[in-house]
Amino acid sequence: MLFYVRTFGCQMNKADSEVAAGTLLAAGHLETTDPAEAELIVINTCAVREHAVDRLYGYVNSLKSPLKHNQSPLLAVGGCVAEQKRSALWKDLPQTDIIFGTSAFHLLPQAIDRAAKGETRIDLLQATELLPDHLHVRPEDPWRAWLPISRGCNNFCSYCVVPYTRGREASRALDIVLTDAKTLVARGAREITLLGQNVNSYGNDLGEPGLFAHLLSSLDDIPDLRRVRFLTSHPKDLSPATIAALAASANACEHVHLPLQAGSDRILTAMNRGYTLDKYLERVEALRAAIPGVALSTDLIVGFPGETEEEFNETLAAVERINYDSAYTFIYSPRPGTPAAELPDEVSWRTKETRLRQLIELQSTLSDRACQAYLGRVVEVFVIGPSRRGEVSWTGRTRTNKIVNFPAAGAWAGRFASVRITGAGTASLTGSLCGPIE
Ligand code: SAH
Ligand code: SF4
Ligand code: F3S
Repeated sequence: MLFYVRTFGCQMNKADSEVAAGTLLAAGHLETTDPAEAELIVINTCAVREHAVDRLYGYVNSLKSPLKHNQSPLLAVGGCVAEQKRSALWKDLPQTDIIFGTSAFHLLPQAIDRAAKGETRIDLLQATELLPDHLHVRPEDPWRAWLPISRGCNNFCSYCVVPYTRGREASRALDIVLTDAKTLVARGAREITLLGQNVNSYGNDLGEPGLFAHLLSSLDDIPDLRRVRFLTSHPKDLSPATIAALAASANACEHVHLPLQAGSDRILTAMNRGYTLDKYLERVEALRAAIPGVALSTDLIVGFPGETEEEFNETLAAVERINYDSAYTFIYSPRPGTPAAELPDEVSWRTKETRLRQLIELQSTLSDRACQAYLGRVVEVFVIGPSRRGEVSWTGRTRTNKIVNFPAAGAWAGRFASVRITGAGTASLTGSLCGPIE
């Protein structure tokens, strides 16, 4: 079958979609980049905010448009919305043929065989608890790879649906993660991003606390693995040992995504985040002391139920004080089934929008300033591919995760370049090539 995969949501979903595509390819199916010619459309969904779910419904309904071949394609809908809605999804999206959960991506070929035999409404929600190891993966990009080290989440932040859609935290064994990393590097990956909802608690469920620090040091011993990144680092579990391992590791990048969510201790408690602003600031200081030049990014939510103007101002003050390189900012979205959704929500939509705007404005000033600081510096850029401006211009990232565009003749994708920064915007830098870094 000719299949097409559409992915909504986070990096974990992107990694899961690579497993879906890899398994289908290994079973002899073929991938297309054109949904109109696909005989099978696989949609990997996100339930984190209402907007993500609305986009899914909009997308599925847009698929009604005439297709290039006569038969309508098989539709497989999986991931977090499928886990959240379960059988109610048949009602919401009756055109769906296969529903699969967040741990059944590798079972799609079997479901297709069942559909081919005439079975309808195939349900793979209860299929497995955990994805098996060593799955087929079709990477999006040969030089950069995702590597899930754990699945699920035990933190139950009061606003968040993820523990319900992805179940309890389950760490993959260290030797398996290391074997995977070596395989990825042997296939050409030079950068690996470790994935988990909370990488800092990696190993806790195996009775091996502190395993993340150990993993970072072990990855540093893999020759040709030039960069290691990781998502997401929960502030409450960021230990001194992990900070020391990051500082000591040559390939761990100087960038930590450390979601703050809110600057008020009352809101942080109501969110069940497990830290106070002071605790968070302590960890930021420890990171900055141990890793000179470390870039910090964050996630922030405005308009949590009951958030007062004063409490929102505490978020603004914290953001200014911490001076992030970048931030993802969200308006709180009540998720059915979460404790926060039961709280009375006195904050009006208008207020939420105003707060979001204020926060974005502040952060773009800080991001501008962070970019300006690069002017004149020579940085190592890992080149991802041609920039949107065309083949003569290339785009890549610094170790601190800043986007750099630079013009250069020749083929640069997948290579490391030394680039002098000559221009700075809010979200990206421009520069001129000094030469390759082998
Ligand atoms: N495990 C990661 C976050 C995964 S969700 C962590 O804890 O850092 C990514 C981000 O989406 C969160 O950090 C949060 O800022 C945002 N988010 C999650 N649930 C949300 C909700 N109900 N409304 C608005 N934003 C939400
Ligand atoms: Fe959601 Fe909190 Fe878990 Fe992140 S740590 S996935 S925000 S419950
Ligand atoms: Fe969305 Fe599920 Fe990721 S809800 S953010 S796709 S874990």
